[in-house]
Amino acid sequence: MKKALVLIPVLAFALVLAVGLSAQVKKGKTRGALTKQLMGGLVRPNCAGLGAALKKEPADDKAWAALATQAALLNEASYILMADGRCPDGDWKAACDTLRGCSKAVMAKIEAKDLEGANTAFKALTGACGACHKKHKK
Ligand code: HEC
Repeated sequence: MKKALVLIPVLAFALVLAVGLSAQVKKGKTRGALTKQLMGGLVRPNCAGLGAALKKEPADDKAWAALATQAALLNEASYILMADGRCPDGDWKAACDTLRGCSKAVMAKIEAKDLEGANTAFKALTGACGACHKKHKK
Protein backbone atom coordinates (compact mmCIF):
# COMPACT_ATOMS: atom_id res chain seq x y z
CA MET A 1 0.00 0.00 0.00
CA LYS A 2 2.80 2.38 0.94
CA LYS A 3 4.56 1.55 -2.32
CA ALA A 4 1.42 2.41 -4.28
CA LEU A 5 1.16 5.77 -2.50
CA VAL A 6 4.72 6.59 -3.48
CA LEU A 7 3.93 5.69 -7.08
CA ILE A 8 1.02 8.16 -7.39
CA PRO A 9 3.11 11.36 -7.59
CA VAL A 10 5.58 9.60 -9.87
CA LEU A 11 2.80 8.55 -12.25
CA ALA A 12 1.18 11.99 -12.05
CA PHE A 13 4.50 13.59 -12.94
CA ALA A 14 5.00 11.20 -15.85
CA LEU A 15 1.49 11.96 -17.12
CA VAL A 16 2.01 15.72 -16.94
CA LEU A 17 5.31 15.29 -18.76
CA ALA A 18 3.79 13.10 -21.47
CA VAL A 19 0.84 15.45 -22.05
CA GLY A 20 3.16 18.46 -22.00
CA LEU A 21 5.54 16.95 -24.53
CA SER A 22 2.88 15.79 -26.96
CA ALA A 23 0.86 19.00 -26.54
CA GLN A 24 3.86 20.98 -27.77
CA VAL A 25 3.84 19.12 -31.07
CA LYS A 26 0.06 18.83 -31.47
CA LYS A 27 -0.81 22.39 -30.43
CA GLY A 28 0.87 25.66 -29.49
CA LYS A 29 0.82 26.98 -25.92
CA THR A 30 -1.88 29.66 -26.20
CA ARG A 31 -3.40 29.68 -29.70
CA GLY A 32 -6.30 27.42 -30.63
CA ALA A 33 -5.14 25.82 -33.88
CA LEU A 34 -4.06 22.19 -33.70
CA THR A 35 -1.02 21.18 -35.74
CA LYS A 36 -3.32 18.71 -37.47
CA GLN A 37 -5.60 21.58 -38.55
CA LEU A 38 -2.69 23.67 -39.79
CA MET A 39 -1.54 20.69 -41.82
CA GLY A 40 -4.97 19.82 -43.22
CA GLY A 41 -6.15 23.38 -43.87
CA LEU A 42 -3.00 25.34 -44.66
CA VAL A 43 0.08 23.23 -45.42
CA ARG A 44 -1.33 20.26 -47.34
CA PRO A 45 -3.74 22.17 -49.66
CA ASN A 46 -1.13 24.75 -50.62
CA CYS A 47 1.56 22.12 -51.11
CA ALA A 48 -0.69 19.88 -53.19
CA GLY A 49 -2.08 22.83 -55.18
CA LEU A 50 1.36 24.19 -55.91
CA GLY A 51 2.72 20.78 -56.90
CA ALA A 52 -0.16 20.17 -59.29
CA ALA A 53 -0.07 23.64 -60.83
CA LEU A 54 3.71 23.54 -61.40
CA LYS A 55 3.28 20.56 -63.72
CA LYS A 56 2.44 22.81 -66.66
CA GLU A 57 3.21 26.36 -67.77
CA PRO A 58 0.75 28.74 -66.04
CA ALA A 59 -1.67 30.17 -68.61
CA ASP A 60 -1.49 33.85 -67.65
CA ASP A 61 -0.45 36.36 -64.98
CA LYS A 62 -3.44 35.41 -62.88
CA ALA A 63 -2.31 31.78 -62.81
CA TRP A 64 1.24 32.83 -61.83
CA ALA A 65 -0.23 35.02 -59.09
CA ALA A 66 -2.21 32.05 -57.74
CA LEU A 67 1.01 30.04 -57.57
CA ALA A 68 2.75 32.89 -55.76
CA THR A 69 -0.04 32.95 -53.18
CA GLN A 70 0.33 29.23 -52.46
CA ALA A 71 4.10 29.54 -52.08
CA ALA A 72 3.66 32.58 -49.82
CA LEU A 73 1.23 30.70 -47.56
CA LEU A 74 3.67 27.80 -47.25
CA ASN A 75 6.30 30.36 -46.31
CA GLU A 76 4.00 31.77 -43.61
CA ALA A 77 3.33 28.25 -42.36
CA SER A 78 7.05 27.90 -41.60
CA TYR A 79 6.70 30.82 -39.14
CA ILE A 80 3.42 29.64 -37.63
CA LEU A 81 4.89 26.17 -36.97
CA MET A 82 7.76 27.78 -35.05
CA ALA A 83 5.54 30.13 -33.02
CA ASP A 84 3.69 29.77 -29.72
CA GLY A 85 6.06 27.22 -28.19
CA ARG A 86 5.14 24.59 -30.77
CA CYS A 87 8.71 23.67 -31.73
CA PRO A 88 9.95 20.74 -29.62
CA ASP A 89 13.49 20.25 -30.96
CA GLY A 90 16.17 20.88 -33.57
CA ASP A 91 14.67 18.47 -36.11
CA TRP A 92 11.41 20.42 -36.10
CA LYS A 93 13.31 23.70 -36.48
CA ALA A 94 15.50 22.32 -39.30
CA ALA A 95 12.39 21.19 -41.20
CA CYS A 96 10.80 24.64 -40.72
CA ASP A 97 14.01 26.27 -41.97
CA THR A 98 13.88 24.06 -45.08
CA LEU A 99 10.20 24.90 -45.62
CA ARG A 100 10.96 28.62 -45.18
CA GLY A 101 14.05 28.77 -47.40
CA CYS A 102 12.64 26.59 -50.17
CA SER A 103 9.25 28.33 -50.28
CA LYS A 104 11.08 31.65 -50.53
CA ALA A 105 13.12 30.23 -53.41
CA VAL A 106 9.89 29.02 -55.07
CA MET A 107 8.44 32.52 -54.66
CA ALA A 108 11.51 34.07 -56.34
CA LYS A 109 11.32 31.61 -59.26
CA ILE A 110 7.60 32.28 -59.68
CA GLU A 111 8.30 36.00 -59.63
CA ALA A 112 10.80 35.40 -62.45
CA LYS A 113 8.27 33.12 -64.22
CA ASP A 114 10.92 30.38 -64.16
CA LEU A 115 8.85 27.19 -64.13
CA GLU A 116 11.78 24.77 -64.13
CA GLY A 117 13.50 26.65 -61.29
CA ALA A 118 10.25 26.72 -59.34
CA ASN A 119 9.89 22.96 -59.73
CA THR A 120 13.43 22.34 -58.50
CA ALA A 121 12.89 24.53 -55.43
CA PHE A 122 9.49 22.92 -54.83
CA LYS A 123 11.01 19.46 -54.86
CA ALA A 124 13.47 20.56 -52.18
CA LEU A 125 10.57 22.08 -50.22
CA THR A 126 8.77 18.75 -50.00
CA GLY A 127 11.82 17.33 -48.21
CA ALA A 128 10.71 19.37 -45.19
CA CYS A 129 7.43 17.42 -44.92
CA GLY A 130 9.11 14.04 -44.71
CA ALA A 131 11.90 15.23 -42.45
CA CYS A 132 9.49 16.52 -39.81
CA HIS A 133 6.93 13.71 -40.18
CA LYS A 134 9.58 11.01 -39.79
CA LYS A 135 10.27 12.16 -36.27
CA HIS A 136 7.09 13.95 -35.15
CA LYS A 137 4.04 12.61 -36.97
CA LYS A 138 2.81 9.64 -34.95
C1 HEC B 1 7.80 21.08 -38.50
C2 HEC B 1 7.09 19.85 -38.65
C3 HEC B 1 6.23 19.58 -39.83
C4 HEC B 1 6.42 19.97 -41.14
C5 HEC B 1 7.54 20.81 -41.72
C6 HEC B 1 5.33 19.42 -41.89
N1 HEC B 1 4.48 18.73 -41.07
FE1 HEC B 1 2.75 17.79 -41.63
N2 HEC B 1 2.47 17.17 -39.73
C7 HEC B 1 3.31 17.45 -38.65
C8 HEC B 1 2.78 16.81 -37.45
C9 HEC B 1 3.38 16.89 -36.06
C10 HEC B 1 1.62 16.15 -37.84
C11 HEC B 1 0.70 15.31 -36.95
C12 HEC B 1 -0.27 16.23 -36.24
C13 HEC B 1 -1.20 15.48 -35.31
O1 HEC B 1 -1.78 14.46 -35.74
O2 HEC B 1 -1.39 15.94 -34.18
C14 HEC B 1 1.44 16.39 -39.28
C15 HEC B 1 0.38 15.91 -40.04
C16 HEC B 1 0.20 16.14 -41.37
C17 HEC B 1 -0.94 15.68 -42.15
C18 HEC B 1 -2.11 14.89 -41.61
C19 HEC B 1 -3.18 15.85 -41.11
C20 HEC B 1 -4.38 15.14 -40.50
O3 HEC B 1 -5.51 15.62 -40.73
O4 HEC B 1 -4.19 14.13 -39.82
C21 HEC B 1 -0.76 16.10 -43.44
C22 HEC B 1 -1.68 15.87 -44.63
C23 HEC B 1 0.50 16.82 -43.47
N3 HEC B 1 1.04 16.84 -42.20
C24 HEC B 1 1.03 17.39 -44.62
C25 HEC B 1 2.25 18.06 -44.66
C26 HEC B 1 2.90 18.53 -45.86
C27 HEC B 1 2.35 18.36 -47.27
C28 HEC B 1 4.07 19.13 -45.47
C29 HEC B 1 5.12 19.79 -46.33
C30 HEC B 1 4.74 20.85 -47.21
C31 HEC B 1 4.14 19.04 -44.02
N4 HEC B 1 3.04 18.38 -43.56
C32 HEC B 1 5.18 19.57 -43.27
C33 HEC B 1 4.46 18.19 -38.67
C34 HEC B 1 5.01 18.79 -39.81
